[in-house]
Amino acid sequence: MFSINGNKAGRRPGEGAPYAHIVGWGMAVPEKVVTNRDLSEIVDTSDEWIVSRTGIRERRIAGPRDTTASLAIRAARQALGVANLKPREVQLIILATSSPEYIFPSTASIVQDALGATNAGAFDLSAACSGFIYALSLGAQMIRSGALETVLVIGSETLSRLVNWTDRETCILFGDGAGAFVLQAREQPGGVLSSILRSDGSGGDLLIIPAGGSKLPTTADTVRDNLHTIAMNGREVYRFATRVMVSAAKEVVASAGLTLDDLSLIIPHQANLRIIQAAARGLGLPEERFMINLDRYGNTSTASIPIAVCEAVSQGRIQPGDNMVLVGFGAGLTWGATMLSWAAVTPPQVSRWERIRRQGLYAVARARSVARRSWRHVEGLVWGSQESGEVRQAPVEVEQKM
Ligand code: ACO
Repeated sequence: MFSINGNKAGRRPGEGAPYAHIVGWGMAVPEKVVTNRDLSEIVDTSDEWIVSRTGIRERRIAGPRDTTASLAIRAARQALGVANLKPREVQLIILATSSPEYIFPSTASIVQDALGATNAGAFDLSAACSGFIYALSLGAQMIRSGALETVLVIGSETLSRLVNWTDRETCILFGDGAGAFVLQAREQPGGVLSSILRSDGSGGDLLIIPAGGSKLPTTADTVRDNLHTIAMNGREVYRFATRVMVSAAKEVVASAGLTLDDLSLIIPHQANLRIIQAAARGLGLPEERFMINLDRYGNTSTASIPIAVCEAVSQGRIQPGDNMVLVGFGAGLTWGATMLSWAAVTPPQVSRWERIRRQGLYAVARARSVARRSWRHVEGLVWGSQESGEVRQAPVEVEQKM
């Protein structure tokens, strides 16, 4: 019997293959709004240039207390609330990000701890802005194979911390935020129907943070030369993006045995309005068929697609039975698309009592985390480990402040 993390169904892979449905969704953005006019005070740009070249009017930028984990935790709690699930029912957390809290531990593990998802495995996934498509595809496959029943997929970013705020070509593009889906096995046909994932590493230098990894570790020189911030060849990325958005969308629709006419909505990565308009022309679809909210958030990388889905749901643009394509591209180069059939999932009415109970669960998770850390410290003292629980700086504190 094939079983991971205590899948109660204990299905063999492929046996009575369940469908992977999105049963919960949530988003979180920082409070701070930064307009194009605000940016024109720090770099040589203008509202008119940014709107005409990108479609972006404003973006949300992380405040001192916001981090990639804290935004992810907020989005995940919302998604679990919509799904009406307890954190301990989650079996796997996949967190796609390009701005993790640390190289390790994974941001996913920090989120797992803060949620009290005590039965879940957790890992980060790195595929730049395509990361959410990759994570969604992987989570759905874990469910379709029968290995797992409930997977939390998150895209979360604080790219503002990695942007070169003196580079007018990149600093105008990005914003911070998080989006999350709960995927669950259901017998009812639908959900994630198919995905395609692609990469062309020969274009890696087109969009890169050159230093801080193992190839170019941090030194005084790398800091002085600003090599820890995003460097991009905008024109080349633009050309690549317009090409792959069209090919990926066509391919994923065909792989699900459908046609473009079957689509009620396309939810593209929100990088640049002109890229989305070019994709619409390339696919021969009206622009109204595309969900666009980049004017308010800019490019939130892995978070842009789930945030757009959340807003499309709340605007009534997604109805049960709708066929949709999610399509993205990013550094790597990477790109990918997912074909979805939205199920008739109605968010449950949550009573005040239930909301209080959920807050209680998260308070218990915080207390558990503190208790485990303290216990580890005591064990270290008892067994004589000097290192136990002690590192140079107090890490992984972020979720405690929430
Ligand atoms: N304000 C004013 N002028 C500017 C700005 C700015 N913010 N940025 C660039 N310019 C200038 C350039 O210096 C250039 O001036 P020049 O002609 O005197 O040299 C002029 O505007 C035109 O520059 P282009 O690069 O041709 O401008 P373009 O129309 O290509 O727009 C942009 C630039 C917006 C970056 C576009 O190329 C783009 O969106 N590319 C894709 C970027 C992207 O999507 N990246 C994210 C990928 S996802 C991920 O993994 C993170």
